[in-house]
Amino acid sequence: RLSKEEMEFRVRRIKNELGKSLFIPGHHYQKDEVIQFADAVGDSLQLAQVSAKNKDAKYIVFCGVHFMAETADILTTEKQAVILPDMRAGCSMADMADIYQTERAWEKLISLLGETILPLTYVNSTASIKSFVGKNGGATVTSSNAHKMVEWALTQKERILFLPDQHLGRNTAADIGIGLHEMAVWDPINDELLFEGKVEDIKVILWKGHCSVHENFTLNNIHSVREKYPEMNIIVHPECRKEVVDASDYNGSTKYIIEMIKHAKPGTSWAIGTEMNLVQRLISNHLDKHIISLNPQMCPCLTMNRIDLPHLLWSLESIDAGNPVNTIQVDEDVSNNAVLALERMLHRA
Ligand code: 13P
Ligand code: SF4
Repeated sequence: RLSKEEMEFRVRRIKNELGKSLFIPGHHYQKDEVIQFADAVGDSLQLAQVSAKNKDAKYIVFCGVHFMAETADILTTEKQAVILPDMRAGCSMADMADIYQTERAWEKLISLLGETILPLTYVNSTASIKSFVGKNGGATVTSSNAHKMVEWALTQKERILFLPDQHLGRNTAADIGIGLHEMAVWDPINDELLFEGKVEDIKVILWKGHCSVHENFTLNNIHSVREKYPEMNIIVHPECRKEVVDASDYNGSTKYIIEMIKHAKPGTSWAIGTEMNLVQRLISNHLDKHIISLNPQMCPCLTMNRIDLPHLLWSLESIDAGNPVNTIQVDEDVSNNAVLALERMLHRA
């Protein structure tokens, strides 16, 4: 077994050797041991944008999860190889909408509501879902542009189908003034549409998926923080349940949370409802502020955490040896439609 220092030394050596032909994007939720080697650190929108712009790198070693590496592959050229250091770095939310369930749902929804629906998908979805959405005139969204994209979608069609995160969809729709009686939930397990108002009033159909990390922040966590630290500002990601978002002081994307903490006055206190690695990094980068996780259990994303220093080194050594492992290659047909959905977002982002 190599020591941490030896692994770091080897990563540095390969990075130096490969120069501009290697690009390492790293999502904010990645571990410090990985982030220290990232050439760009960002949220999912920023990483999609930098990957699309990078034409020099022959190898893109994506430190994030599978759907992000797929997106990078879709947005880069055939000559560029996208590598995910550990294939087990998936996303439980993306796995909650598969293409067969989605096609079945679409058929049923169209027969119930006619051709009145535009599909939108959170980028946290598989390439096949993005492709389905692109083929049907829709677009991808991220947590930092969901607002804008939902408003745009509702100028195109009477209704939207929002995949796969019901919470981001519900929070965004509520934010732009859509009432809960105008929202329905598609349950992909039982193949049924759940709603309380009149069917003709439905404007937003939410796919019944969620993020297993952000669902761990609860109203109880908020009550405990308010009781123990009445002066705390509570800020959460919109992948949290609506009741949690409503009870917090601020909510917004990863980028928004980082900016808020960066610009907060020294001495202020913050309880943050998002992934653990990011919260820990914010704590160590802002020692002049009192920062805690909204949930004392901290809430790691287990799949993001599968990318670690040994896997990063292993993937870089495979490139160095001329035989790259774990390349992500999205099927051409899928990619051609998925890019339509991504471009509709990137043009507006
Ligand atoms: P953003 O990077 O868009 O904030 O998404 C958060 C997330 O859950 C990434 O997996
Ligand atoms: Fe998926 Fe949630 Fe992890 Fe993001 S934080 S990768 S949405 S499980």
